[in-house]
Amino acid sequence: MSQHPQTESILAGLTLEQKASLLSGATFWETEGIEDAGVPSIIVSDGPHGVRRQSTGGDHLGLLDGEPATCFPPAVGLGSSWDPELVERVGEALGREAQAKRVSVLLGPGINIKRDPRCGRNFEYLSEDPLHAGVLGSAFVRGVQSQGVGTSLKHYAANNQETDRLRVSAEIDTRTLRELYLPAFRRVVTETQPWTVMCSYNKINGTFASEHNWLLNTVLRDEWGFEGVVVSDWGAVRDRVPSLAAGLDLEMPTTVGRTDAEVVAAVKDGSLDIAVVDTAARRLIDLALSGQQGLWENAELDVDGQHALAREIAGRSIVLLRNEDAILPLTPGAGPVAVIGEFARTPRYQGAGSSQIVPTRLDNALDAIREISGEDVPFAAGFTLDGVADAALADEAVRVAASAETVLYFAGLPSSAESEGFDRDDIELPADQVALLERLIEANPRIVVVLSNGAVVRVSDWNERVPALVEGWLLGQAGGGAIADVLYGAVNPSGRLTESIPERLQDVPAFTSFPGEQGSVRYAEGLYVGYRHYDTREAAVSYPFGFGLSYTSFSYDHTAVRVDEDTVHVSVQVTNTGKRDGREVVQVYTGLPGAEVSRPVHELRAFASVEVPAGETREVALSFPISELAYFAPVADAWSVEGGTYVVEIAASSRDIRASLEIQIEGDPSPIPLSINSTLGEWLAHPIGAPILNAALAEVLASTPAVGAMLNDPHMRKMAEQMPMTQAVSFGAVTTEQVQALVAAVEQASA
Ligand code: GLC
Repeated sequence: MSQHPQTESILAGLTLEQKASLLSGATFWETEGIEDAGVPSIIVSDGPHGVRRQSTGGDHLGLLDGEPATCFPPAVGLGSSWDPELVERVGEALGREAQAKRVSVLLGPGINIKRDPRCGRNFEYLSEDPLHAGVLGSAFVRGVQSQGVGTSLKHYAANNQETDRLRVSAEIDTRTLRELYLPAFRRVVTETQPWTVMCSYNKINGTFASEHNWLLNTVLRDEWGFEGVVVSDWGAVRDRVPSLAAGLDLEMPTTVGRTDAEVVAAVKDGSLDIAVVDTAARRLIDLALSGQQGLWENAELDVDGQHALAREIAGRSIVLLRNEDAILPLTPGAGPVAVIGEFARTPRYQGAGSSQIVPTRLDNALDAIREISGEDVPFAAGFTLDGVADAALADEAVRVAASAETVLYFAGLPSSAESEGFDRDDIELPADQVALLERLIEANPRIVVVLSNGAVVRVSDWNERVPALVEGWLLGQAGGGAIADVLYGAVNPSGRLTESIPERLQDVPAFTSFPGEQGSVRYAEGLYVGYRHYDTREAAVSYPFGFGLSYTSFSYDHTAVRVDEDTVHVSVQVTNTGKRDGREVVQVYTGLPGAEVSRPVHELRAFASVEVPAGETREVALSFPISELAYFAPVADAWSVEGGTYVVEIAASSRDIRASLEIQIEGDPSPIPLSINSTLGEWLAHPIGAPILNAALAEVLASTPAVGAMLNDPHMRKMAEQMPMTQAVSFGAVTTEQVQALVAAVEQASA
């Protein structure tokens, strides 16, 4: 969003009342305009995976329909592509469609971390990992904004559940907030300058996001340099004047002037500085001018072109989890196929709530399978979508399955199971679907299970008893065709998991703390979310983060890593060792064994999706700044790169490490300067403090052998190393002045 030359003169010409009127919506989806002052009203609309334009009325829960629009795969699918270029193309397509609908700001992307698979809105988020979410979030914003349409990066911050989302306080320690829940927002803001950032409903450590000065001003603007508009989630403002003072520029939707009047009154009674109003009004004027100028006069919706793109994107979003004996891809005419499961006929293709799109078209897998195979493939619904077992449907399905060579079983979560606005209580598939699957395995074990679900479901009861498992997530309006493309090999699957699939809900790190109680939820697992938890604890999972199969295979050779002054460079040669063209997602993780602070065993640092033709090799080069190895030190309120020997893993998933290399990183000085409060152990571990202390100790050891004997006794030494120097002073081993002299020597040597 650019700063416009005329903004200042427009602002100067406005009354206090006019300025205040800009700070809240004119309607549900429109900002306030002041026509005779040259401030246009602009339209905002959800997002994120389609343009949900509601020209009459409006709601933020998906209760009322929007105008037909292209329904692309929601983030759960799109994110599984692991391909920023693809995501940017979706952003461009959405930007064009927003233009055609005269929408100036698309309310997305949603980049909250998938903390727990029960979250009802995981379908709308990209990942359990902040780098992955940030890189793809940036790609989405770049794409949309390249079309002159703004975005709204959401929901800032820590909106990781739907239970009590309007009030709950997310209790998060500083390191976890800084290292896990904020980095994706930081990356997108610093890389792309989204026109707006949407604050979340919830509190963070007791303060509503909408009134969180540290979050909205100190971090977002002062640290990250955000220049755009902070907009509330719809109805998220509890108290307008404190929220404005805390940096919340635009309250949505309209409050029909009520809160504008509160702002005017606060300026008049001196409790709110007019400068705060001016700052927010200036941003809103800039937004309105950018929004208006970006709109193309003759933009049109290319329904067929958008649908074709949606099908391509959906094909890239599908994750092949299991394919024993290469049962897939199917060959048309090779043997009778039966399609079982209502989802094949009635696709589950998006999540429920504010993002819900009325699609321009809707493919279903059954028709697409019949078309691509050229066969009138028999079908049986097997179950209803209300989760009530239907014996007749199940019996019919078993009969149809028994007569086929291969069964394609479409199972998943009905839209009533997961949505914005509420969470799941478990991660189970509906019992009637699982019961039917058991009967189908009995009747015909040659089964391909295809799942439709917005968040992880438990598969551990049966997944090793079926030859193939395809995670179809939610794939948008063209998903039915895309699934058929993958099943019959027109598309070679290249999706990878962005959310670990646990064997049991009890294994999920937030199992005991999600979704909290009595107004607060403790993020007790800290940094250890998703693979950070499972891999650090070497815990079993059904399928790991970053995992996905292909119809071909890839080898990794000539791996190398090097470090220049501020960047780590990784390279690998990826060879397609199979007979089909394919796409591999190369991942780079780093770990620091023996770190001075608690850290996950490894963390994703870079990734790339690369197309490799059959039999060919591609050189893949990846890099990341050394600064991204940093951890956040709360005691110093600063990031710090610890020096040491880092492990650099080049991987095909978080559990499939193809090469493990090492790099030496010098690192920053310890964020905790040595002092009289430092322990003997910290002094002896400090690169500068140790030699200075040892030199001083040499004199003491020479004059008092008993101290030497103590320090030479391993048991005694361990205890002594836990002793702050203040203790040594109180025991008379050294004086305060002597310790202060040591501290001064360290400071001098460090300067
Ligand atoms: C909803 C959602 C948000 C959406 C907004 C407008 O409550 O939380 O993602 O953009 O309100 O519909």
